[in-house]
Amino acid sequence: MKIIITGATGLLGSELSSYLKEKRYEIIEWNSKNQDITDINNTIKNIKKIRPEVIIHLAAFTNVDECEENKGKAFLINTQGSWAITLGAKEINCKLIYFSTDYVFDGNKDTPYYENDLPNPINYYGMTKYLAEKKIVETLKKYFIVRTSLLFGKKRENFVLRIYEKGKKEKEIKVPSDVISSPTYVKDLLLPVENLLKSEEYGIYHIVNSDYSSRYDLAKEIVKVANLNCEIIPITQKESGWKAKRPKFSALNNTKYELIFNHKIRSYKDALIDFINSLK
Ligand SMILES: NC(=O)c1ccc[n+]([C@@H]2O[C@H](COP(=O)([O-])OP(=O)(O)OC[C@H]3O[C@@H](n4cnc5c(N)ncnc54)[C@H](OP(=O)(O)O)[C@@H]3O)[C@@H](O)[C@H]2O)c1
Repeated sequence: MKIIITGATGLLGSELSSYLKEKRYEIIEWNSKNQDITDINNTIKNIKKIRPEVIIHLAAFTNVDECEENKGKAFLINTQGSWAITLGAKEINCKLIYFSTDYVFDGNKDTPYYENDLPNPINYYGMTKYLAEKKIVETLKKYFIVRTSLLFGKKRENFVLRIYEKGKKEKEIKVPSDVISSPTYVKDLLLPVENLLKSEEYGIYHIVNSDYSSRYDLAKEIVKVANLNCEIIPITQKESGWKAKRPKFSALNNTKYELIFNHKIRSYKDALIDFINSLK
């Protein structure tokens, strides 16, 4: 099966690309240097030239605070770039797997979000990703929209890695206790993506590690698992200095995926143990 992965150099893309290559899929790896998705004509032209059976579209401007400060860039990459991918997929009638975010939700619920809960983004990153989702739903039939959350892995800086590294050097770290989401290990998304590749059960899926946590509790868990001598101090989101507002509760419910694919996704706490052990 021939597959284009956009964002193949990223946190998720690098793991996914290696995993699928090992499984003998034919992978074409795109990144910002070899295929800038904001060049719409060129992106569509190259999709038509390569004619993949599936596009896994991960490329994005993912720094949530920088998206708030550089709205034009966020719109160009996350929305317009995704529209180009969508139009290319439409031209050759291939499957599209698009990765979206828990930040499409406003956070006013207090139980995990289902796929049919209404999005209402409260930051610009969430808005640009939601606009891309809408275009995909309007344009394509053969699509999977996967909403995931707070990814951790080795490839680049992320919340878990940051706390782990800081916790080795500092005596205390201040972390917001009023922001709750579903931390997810990139390695636990690999089998789900492979399941989607083989499936025709199209639609929106929430795919995250099970259970959820505030940033504060997650940081405490990291320090505990890594056995670090560092105290985690709770602060509020307002005190954090973040430029973009985060939903106060954006945990995702993954039951739809688990039932349709008969695959139970483990708790983020078990995933965290594996991840931290892989760093030692
Ligand atoms: N990270 C999270 O916590 C999180 C949470 C929820 C959802 N998601 C979604 O999951 C997907 C993967 O996220 P990630 O964290 O793995 O991404 P990432 O590490 O930030 O990597 C971003 C990727 O996008 C590429 N890219 C950026 N601008 C581009 C452009 N103009 N044209 C083509 N490619 C471009 C980058 O290429 P270069 O290496 O060349 O710059 C890189 O490969 C994204 O769609 C993201 O929105 C992520």
